[in-house]
Amino acid sequence: MGNQEQTSTIDTPHLDSFRAVVESRRSVRRFTDTPIPDDVLRECLRLAMLAPNSSNLQPWEFFVIDSPNIRAKAVDNCMRQNAAKTAARLIAIVARTDNWHEHAKQVLREYPLSPVPKKVKDYYGRLIPLEFVRGPVNVLSLAKWGVTQTHRQLKGPIKSPYYTLEDIKQWATNNTALAAENLILALRAHGFDSCAMGGFDEPAMKDLLSLGEHQHIVMMLAAGERADKGIYHPQFRFAQEQFVHYV
Ligand SMILES: Cc1cc2nc3c(=O)[nH]c(=O)nc-3n(C[C@H](O)[C@H](O)[C@H](O)COP(=O)(O)O)c2cc1C
Repeated sequence: MGNQEQTSTIDTPHLDSFRAVVESRRSVRRFTDTPIPDDVLRECLRLAMLAPNSSNLQPWEFFVIDSPNIRAKAVDNCMRQNAAKTAARLIAIVARTDNWHEHAKQVLREYPLSPVPKKVKDYYGRLIPLEFVRGPVNVLSLAKWGVTQTHRQLKGPIKSPYYTLEDIKQWATNNTALAAENLILALRAHGFDSCAMGGFDEPAMKDLLSLGEHQHIVMMLAAGERADKGIYHPQFRFAQEQFVHYV
């Protein structure tokens, strides 16, 4: 198809609404006092968790910081950014590196077909553990690396497994960031706005929320109703040609 203009003949019943949601989303740094109702937030979180995710292992968590004491300290940890100060809801969006095994078992327990197909059982029971397991101090990773390299040279392409905790952190972060974007768009579709924040003190925030070494805060999300002057700058992006490569 390349970059030639094509006229789509596909039926696109949601296109206008989708465009309206995406194009009206902005990072909002000041919110009104209007609360986000619990049922709206719940629905937005449900939509967030419909995001595509690797092997359906769902390595994400959402900490909705409602307690006033924790909230005050969380705002400090967000460097007292206006978005955090004025948000109706402040949410820590967290990637987990330790629950892939438990979730693989849970997929089999909650699988929507009965009996669970053998292929699915093998995938979650054998392949997933092989892909993720590292052993103490990554002792098994060297063997995994050797097997993978040999396969690549002798038999052809093979997906690299995860060798280090850093690899798994990257994997969990990828998945969680997709859920974060769904959440941001779901809020917008409900008439609310948000500001993703990377400008926060992660160790301090983890302490505050009692998070462990296997929980990584991918971003903080401030959410609420857009206030007048809540948007600081006009939106712009660089030209598509700078980023898109047809190969
Ligand atoms: C991962 C991430 C971290 C961000 N961190 C902050 C932040 O700490 N403070 C802030 O005001 N905006 C933050 N932003 C918002 C960006 O500045 C904003 O998305 C960008 O300027 C484009 O503007 P737009 O979202 O209105 O299109 C962040 C956005 C992302 C995706």
